[in-house]
Amino acid sequence: MVNGVLSDGRVRIGGMRTVVPSVESMPLDQAIGLLSGETTWLTKNVPGLGQAFVADGPHGVRAIPGSTNLDIVGALPATCFPTAVTLASTWDPELVERVGEAIGKEAKALGVDVILGPGMNIKRHPLCGRNFEYLSEDPYLTGTMASALTLGIQSQNVGTSVKHFAVNNQETNRFVVDARVDLRTLHELYLRGFEMVVRGAKPWTVMAAYNLVNGTHACENEYLLNDTLRDSWGFDGLVMSDWGAVSDRVAGIKAGLDLEMPASKGTWDSEVVKAINAGELSRDEVNQCAERVVALVEKSNKFTPRKREIPAKLLAQNNTLAREAAAAGSVLLKNDGILPISPATKIAVIGAFAKEPRFQGYGSSFVNAAKVTSAIDAFEAKGIETNYARGYDPLKSPDDAFALTEAVVAARKADVAIVFAGLPPVIESESFDRENLLLPAQHDAAITTVAAANPNTIVVLVNGAPVLMPWLGQVRAVLEVYLGGQAGGGAIVDMLYGDAEPSGRLAETFPKRLEDVAANENFPGSPHQVVYAEQQMVGYRYNTTEQVGPLFPFGYGLSYSTFRWTNAVVNQEDIGIPALPNGAATLTPACQVEVTVTNVGSRPSSEVVQVYLRDQTGLVERPRRELAAFAKTHLAPGESKRVVIPVPKAAFGIWDVVSNTWQVPSGHYELEVARNSAEIVAALPVTVSGTITERVQPVLPPAAEPARQVRPFTRESTLGELEQTFVGRRVSAIVRKGAMPEDGDELNRNMFERQANETPIRTAAMFSGGKLTLKMADAIVAAANSNLKTIPALFRARLRK
Ligand code: BGC
Repeated sequence: MVNGVLSDGRVRIGGMRTVVPSVESMPLDQAIGLLSGETTWLTKNVPGLGQAFVADGPHGVRAIPGSTNLDIVGALPATCFPTAVTLASTWDPELVERVGEAIGKEAKALGVDVILGPGMNIKRHPLCGRNFEYLSEDPYLTGTMASALTLGIQSQNVGTSVKHFAVNNQETNRFVVDARVDLRTLHELYLRGFEMVVRGAKPWTVMAAYNLVNGTHACENEYLLNDTLRDSWGFDGLVMSDWGAVSDRVAGIKAGLDLEMPASKGTWDSEVVKAINAGELSRDEVNQCAERVVALVEKSNKFTPRKREIPAKLLAQNNTLAREAAAAGSVLLKNDGILPISPATKIAVIGAFAKEPRFQGYGSSFVNAAKVTSAIDAFEAKGIETNYARGYDPLKSPDDAFALTEAVVAARKADVAIVFAGLPPVIESESFDRENLLLPAQHDAAITTVAAANPNTIVVLVNGAPVLMPWLGQVRAVLEVYLGGQAGGGAIVDMLYGDAEPSGRLAETFPKRLEDVAANENFPGSPHQVVYAEQQMVGYRYNTTEQVGPLFPFGYGLSYSTFRWTNAVVNQEDIGIPALPNGAATLTPACQVEVTVTNVGSRPSSEVVQVYLRDQTGLVERPRRELAAFAKTHLAPGESKRVVIPVPKAAFGIWDVVSNTWQVPSGHYELEVARNSAEIVAALPVTVSGTITERVQPVLPPAAEPARQVRPFTRESTLGELEQTFVGRRVSAIVRKGAMPEDGDELNRNMFERQANETPIRTAAMFSGGKLTLKMADAIVAAANSNLKTIPALFRARLRK
């Protein structure tokens, strides 16, 4: 290193040894200042240390240096890896860790200190608009994959922010809805993955969610932040708010919310000072949060790249990795032998997603992909003639009979018709939930009319969450590629011709109908409350307990080869688990399951061995089947492997609501060795000597609270609610106009409009860049409560600026 310049071009800042400023000796206003951001993506400057630069993720880097607004587009180019749903479907933590490493390297090249991800909320309902950004309906799979991503990113000395902590399982009313969930379900289903990551992979930061949990906003939730995350799990990193999630900064500081993001231009500072003066908050409490901000900045920002740009060589390597991951996470749902096809087959390619690909979801995770390969590009690169017909509009997909006629003409001329269908971004995005499980009618019609015209029809599905397939019986193959990232088009062509294997397994259940989702009766709830009355009956836990057949079960996926499983055994039948010292993250094996897997087909291929727990102790109510462990194995044709799967002790644990700890029921269990949650190959009995020997009282479902009244209005009232009054209508119109992203595209505007109604006035104030102060918001609320017919002139003038 010469003159502070490292061999890879980064520049060392801060001299020989940085002196960490003492928060205790800082003036109070400076310490308080550290508790909120400087801009949308930067923390405040810590003298002598600099600032931390954070960027979304999670499936690539969305770095927008210098930005002070919330625009989705305009990030520096980076590799867009497959989205979380695809990554989780790989069931391959080693591969996902490599993706994490690659994201970490790109973050470093762009000068990003913390990636805002992974997103790891449980897919409680298939209609959650953000499911594409989340990993699974199962907490163990979620925790395993999120740990892999976290370890990979952080191996590059770039931090992560696991999000959204916690119980943020829907987009509808996300700023104000109170998720009411019993404590056992909370820990076993909704916190377990977070606990695994926090204890095992040690993320630098955690992002607290928008919603309330059992009556208190996640950002002010003492139980979640101080009691659980810090005291019980030992988290010593920083907790930041989701963007605009703070509803009471003083309560947040008390609960352990260190950093409010993004910049709120001092909006809360005077309230914090007031609370200190009134003796409601101590300087020590402020210092503690400020110290964690300083510690984060100290960890970050050791180097700033001279040029924020990802080297071409790294981009090329990562594009190859993105292509590999896209195939590894694609799930072959149906194949009667038609796939893979031969390059000599005359094909027709139908559907705009083949040429204008949808490869990621819209919203804060939107990466400016460095290079996009569509399937059509990849067919051409392989020298294949495509006979393409568009079939539908890729953005909105309205009914279009002409496009169908074209598709039928193309299909008739071909030996095999390949229809690309799925969900356009106006249907599936951050900030709103889907309305039903259907594909747009035009997509269903494209499939059925093409299948009627050509009996050799293959469907490639492009979507971020489960859909219905009324045409399933009319097509020969269905390849679910989800949202496969920038190289997804290449991966699809690789898979169609057998150059790569679709080796994913579903990380979620595809239901047959909406009524078969146990949470459906309580989704999305009322504007201010959603009751998790189904408790643990989410996804396959419900299907297997209540014997409700899905369209495709959790864990399901075919491959191009066939496997024989023989000689499944467990190495130890009597197991002692006297304690779970590391709670849900106690990954020390209780025993190990072994099974011989033989590839009896003629192609190299992968198999996923899944182990489910069946509690037969009779001591506790539990879902019929819970994923306990899994392993993915790759086998050459004819090859046999003894697959060894350690079953962690934590798999046996339940959350005891009396002692508020993990406990283990004693007695008989079965470990079910399975191809998926509905196909068990062997059931292996084990006996556990645990910590519970008496029947545990069932935990009652959460009680619904009386619905919150809209009046009197408060800071928590949404623009939509305030619009019931004259003042509210005026203010809302001004705020909406001022906040609408200027250079936003149609999707951005669509997302904004759908969200504006649900935005509380205090969040509007946070995002106003100081134009709407909390004081003004309070005055507007008071005016609305008194049904005033005018808004104070001063506010009008300031708001309009
Ligand atoms: C999202 C977060 C994201 C943040 C910053 C929020 O709206 O919920 O996931 O990290 O914006 O873009």
